[in-house]
Amino acid sequence: MPSNPSKSGHFLVLNQVEKIYGSGESAQQVLRSVSFCVDKGERVALLGQSGSGKSTLLNVVSGIDTIASGEITIDGVRLHALSENERTLFRRRHIGFIYQSFNLIQTLTALENVTLPLQLNRLNPQLAETSARQMLQRVGLSDRANAFPDQLSGGEQQRIAIARAMIHKPALVLADEHTGNLDAETGGQMMALFNEIAHETNQTVLMVTHSQAVAKTADRIVQMVDGGVVEGGSSQSQSLAW
Ligand SMILES: Nc1ncnc2c1ncn2[C@@H]1O[C@H](COP(=O)(O)OP(=O)(O)OP(=O)(O)O)[C@@H](O)[C@H]1O
Ligand SMILES: [Mg+2]
Repeated sequence: MPSNPSKSGHFLVLNQVEKIYGSGESAQQVLRSVSFCVDKGERVALLGQSGSGKSTLLNVVSGIDTIASGEITIDGVRLHALSENERTLFRRRHIGFIYQSFNLIQTLTALENVTLPLQLNRLNPQLAETSARQMLQRVGLSDRANAFPDQLSGGEQQRIAIARAMIHKPALVLADEHTGNLDAETGGQMMALFNEIAHETNQTVLMVTHSQAVAKTADRIVQMVDGGVVEGGSSQSQSLAW
């Protein structure tokens, strides 16, 4: 880890990041001095036991949640120094998020869910719809465009979630257990599709997983234990043994 990683030229830099939930006697430190770097286009798997802080880490990297101290820099932008509004705009444009529990909007159709990031980024509505229909075709769900999430299977919902996370070609994709609810075969197909789309636009990926098979598709593994990174923190000194 360089002494001043924010000047290192890495795409994503976390430097001594701390996150605390609650205050006083109920305060719980969930991220402890987390430091690591990710290069542009690199795909990193984040492993760790339940409760070790993986989802919390994704939430602070996405700017959904704030940190107590430390620095998070994405493509040279100091996320921790932005206002909430600035973080929201930054996230809409540059980050795609696949949530642990899909998080599709139940009142919107599959097509509308996929179109949403483009609408929020104020793309011309016709262009947005054309692009969303192409993305639906890409994930094999053209014929389900008008279905609502509760009319879709888990695997179908997850494909919609991937389409929605990647439609605006974000530079950084954060994925939380995006194959966790799927059977091995569907999960494998999903990973292939996910990796293919990420590779095409040289997206940087940080993905939480409990699956060794999914972790194997990453360039590198970062291991978390009790809110800290214990393994794989440097992108320079590590090669994957498996
Ligand atoms: N909003 C919150 N308020 C208070 N504590 C929280 C909050 N979110 C998470 N925590 C706590 O922070 C710790 C880390 O939670 P987190 O969800 O990041 O774990 P995780 O590694 O993603 O676990 P899992 O593999 O089960 O998804 C847990 O002890 C959890 O109870
Ligand atoms: Mg989690």
